[in-house]
Amino acid sequence: MNMKIGIVGSGAMGSGIAQVASTAGHQVVISDTRETALEVSKNKLAKIMNRLIEKGRVTKDEATGIQERIHYTTDIQDMSECGLVIEAIVENIDVKKQVFSKLEELTSSETLLASNTSSLSIASIASACKHPERVLGIHFFNPAPLMKLVEIIPAIQSDENVVKIARQLIDDWGKTTVLAKDTPGFIVNRVARPFYGESLRILEEGIADAPTIDWAMKSIGGFRMGPFELMDYIGNDINYTVTETVFKAFWYDPRYKPSFTQKRLSEAGYLGRKSGRGYYDYSEGATKPSPKEDQQLGNQILDRVVAMLINEAADACYLNIASRDDIDLAMTRGVNYPKGLLKWADEIGISECVSRLDALYHEYLEDRYRCSPLLRRMNRDQIKFYS
Ligand SMILES: NC(=O)c1ccc[n+]([C@@H]2O[C@H](COP(=O)([O-])OP(=O)(O)OC[C@H]3O[C@@H](n4cnc5c(N)ncnc54)[C@H](O)[C@@H]3O)[C@@H](O)[C@H]2O)c1
Repeated sequence: MNMKIGIVGSGAMGSGIAQVASTAGHQVVISDTRETALEVSKNKLAKIMNRLIEKGRVTKDEATGIQERIHYTTDIQDMSECGLVIEAIVENIDVKKQVFSKLEELTSSETLLASNTSSLSIASIASACKHPERVLGIHFFNPAPLMKLVEIIPAIQSDENVVKIARQLIDDWGKTTVLAKDTPGFIVNRVARPFYGESLRILEEGIADAPTIDWAMKSIGGFRMGPFELMDYIGNDINYTVTETVFKAFWYDPRYKPSFTQKRLSEAGYLGRKSGRGYYDYSEGATKPSPKEDQQLGNQILDRVVAMLINEAADACYLNIASRDDIDLAMTRGVNYPKGLLKWADEIGISECVSRLDALYHEYLEDRYRCSPLLRRMNRDQIKFYS
C-alpha cells in the first residue's frame, strides 16, 4: 500500500512514527503548530540516521531517502492527499476532537484517521467526525522505531475494513500488531499496572526496599528491568499520570489505585533519570544501594507481583479486551516481559494463582485483591489457558 502518510504532532511519538513510515518507503507529511518542534524533530532524525550509518544499519543513500521522504509543515492542509493520518498531539480530548474534525474536512472520504492516544477513548475522538467509521486507534510505544508492538483499537463506530487495512499496513511496516478493545489503557497500559502498583505497595508496607524488589523481579523473575528502575526510566510524573488516568477511567476501581509514594516523588521533582533523581540517585559518582539478596523474600515479592499481573491479564481476557494470544504477545513484545502472563499462569498452575490471590484478599480484605472470575472458573473446571 503505497499511500502518503500524514502525522499530526512532531513530538516524541509523531517523530518516531514518521521515521517508521518513511523507512517503510512512504512519503510522509508531518505537521506541528510549533515551528521549533518541527526543527527539533528534523534535527533529531538527522542524528539518529548518522548513528544508524555508523552502526552499519542503513546506508548513506537509505538514510538520505528516509529524511527526504519526510515533509515538515505547520500547515495541516498539506495532509489533504494522505491515505492515512496518525494524530500524535497533546493528550487532550478537546484539542484532539478539533483536529479530527479538521482532518475529516480536508482529506478524501477514503482517508483513514487514527489517533496514537494512550488513554483517551477512541469512540469519543471519532465522534468529532461526520463519518466516524473511518477513525481508529493505532497505539505505538516509545520509542516507536524500536518498539515492535502496536495496539490496533477499533472504536465502536469503526468500519471493519478500515481496521483491516490499517492493521495490514502496520504489519507491513514490520510491527507486531494486536487488537484491543477501546477501554482505558488498552492492553499494555492496563495489564502492566500491578508491576508498578503492587511493587509500590510492597515498598510502602516496608516488606522490602526498592533495590531488593528490583533484584527479585530481575534476578528471580527474569524481567529486564526492575519496577523502580523502570519507573525512573519512564519518568515518575508520566508513570503516575498514566496510573491516575487509568484509575479515574475505571471509576476508581481500587485495583488501579495510585500510590502516594509515587505522587510525592513526582511533586518533589524526583522524576527519575531525566531529573537526576527518582527512587535512585543518578548524579555523578552516586552509588546504587545494594539489594538484600534473600531468596525467600525475593520469591515472596515475585510471587505476589506476578499473581497480581496474571489476575489483570486474566481479567482482560475474561472481559474480551483482547484475545489470549494478543494479551501474551502484547506483554512480551510491548514491555519485554520474560513470558506471556497467561502462559505463566498455566506454568504456576491456575489453582496456585487463585490461592495466592485469595490469600492476599483474606489478608487485606481489599477489593484490589479480588480474583478474576475467569481464574476461579478455570480452577473449578480444571482448564488451562493453553491446552
Ligand atoms: N510519550 C509516550 O511515551 C507515548 C507513548 C504512546 C502514546 N503516546 C501518545 O502520543 C501522543 C503524543 O505524545 P508525545 O509524547 O509525542 O507528546 P509531545 O508533547 O512530545 O508532542 C506533542 C506535539 O504535538 C504538538 N501539537 C499540540 N497541539 C497540536 C495541534 N493542534 N496540531 C499540531 N500539533 C500540535 C506539540 O507542539 C508537540 O510538538 C499523546 O496522545 C500521547 O498520549 C505517548
